Amino acid sequence: MSFAVRDPATGEVLDEVADAGPDEATAALDAAVDAQEAWAATPPRERAAVLLRTRDMLLTRIEEFALLITREMGKPLAESWAEVQYAADFLQWFAEEAVRISGEYRVSPGGDFRIVTTRQPVGPCLLISPWNFPLAMITRKLGPALAAGCTAVVKPAEDTPLSCLLLTQVLGEAGLPPGVVNVVTTSRPAPLVERLLADPRLRKLSFTGSTQVGRLLLAQAAGNVLRTSMELGGNAPFLVFADADLDAAVEGALLAKLRNGGQSCVAANRFLVEEPVAEEFATRFADRMSDVRLAPGTDPGSRLGPLINARQVERVAGLVDDAVTRGARVLTGGRAAGPYFPATALTDVPPSARIHHEEIFGPVAPITTFKDESDALAMANDTPYGLVAYLYTRDLGRAVRVGERLETGMVGLNRGLVSNAAAPFGGVKSSGLGREGGFEGIEEYLSTKYLALDLTS
Ligand code: SIN
Repeated sequence: MSFAVRDPATGEVLDEVADAGPDEATAALDAAVDAQEAWAATPPRERAAVLLRTRDMLLTRIEEFALLITREMGKPLAESWAEVQYAADFLQWFAEEAVRISGEYRVSPGGDFRIVTTRQPVGPCLLISPWNFPLAMITRKLGPALAAGCTAVVKPAEDTPLSCLLLTQVLGEAGLPPGVVNVVTTSRPAPLVERLLADPRLRKLSFTGSTQVGRLLLAQAAGNVLRTSMELGGNAPFLVFADADLDAAVEGALLAKLRNGGQSCVAANRFLVEEPVAEEFATRFADRMSDVRLAPGTDPGSRLGPLINARQVERVAGLVDDAVTRGARVLTGGRAAGPYFPATALTDVPPSARIHHEEIFGPVAPITTFKDESDALAMANDTPYGLVAYLYTRDLGRAVRVGERLETGMVGLNRGLVSNAAAPFGGVKSSGLGREGGFEGIEEYLSTKYLALDLTS
């Protein structure tokens, strides 16, 4: 059985891929289990070399990868190029980390024995990646898994499996032994994932996707007490204080809203602006949003491609309609055009609007005002999500005060982009568990083994 992968801009079928079911998933895990011991025993420098060769091949073939990302996901080519670089950065970062996995040698407090710790790969992992960054979200998981000595079953999103398949081919060309990475493509993920999570040979789940699905997977993962890393939904506030550099705030707002067409868990979801500068910010921001050119991602002039599918267009349109019905004003955009949704700015959005409480995953910016710092913090933290917040101010004291009190895993201070392979990416509250990237990223794939050494006998 197979299923079609379509270009979201045209609906054209790009390819047909295997439609795996639970039995194929078990076969993939068999292969990962068989390969685990030898991969864990491969010297760290050799594991790193495979990652570095893969990184080099990604960059040599950047044009091919970028075009494939654009064709299956829809984002403009320039953003796909940036994604390939981002994906390659994870491979490089974790290749560098592979040789720094360390342990400890300590004298016990009573002096009667030695405490020796070592770090071991957790074992075969299930890596479930989303459609919004079809390449980078896979290397963000595979990089540390492979560096740590884990084998993997990878399940890419059904909308965008092609970049993952090409990556796997390149990993093989870079010298990755067979069975270390096993991709299962499927249009019916639930039974397949359920089968894998029930298999006691699986030791780890890493998932990026919605909080709703993350909760279900956590419940299933509880059966075998799996290690889990969960990168879930967000509802990022973008705070602009009256003392901010407004030029920088408008630039940062465009980046935080429009990167990936707003289809990102770190996209700014609520724009909260201090009253004295609210009108000026909204006017300048809406002006820039109205200039954003909608076109297929393959068009070199495209700034905003199609949304991933018709369901998503309908969802975003529903959120805008709800806000307008409740009294919001549309400054620019506001109406879907086929698979596209234009860059949209809304103002006077009442707190009750769904758009304040749900992740938009589209290029829509609801703008609201706040009175003072405590009002801003209360509004920003009024959500079960806690992934990222953006904060624009020139007052250092305020930056630290507010930065520390924002209930998020990440804060962009006078920056509209926090993502970087060298930084720990992740959230608190319902936005997830664990961190990806940074020094923390590889920890998610290692467990500490403690040896108690008695030297007396
Ligand atoms: C995501 O949207 O899931 C990740 C975005 C990023 O890494 O910047």
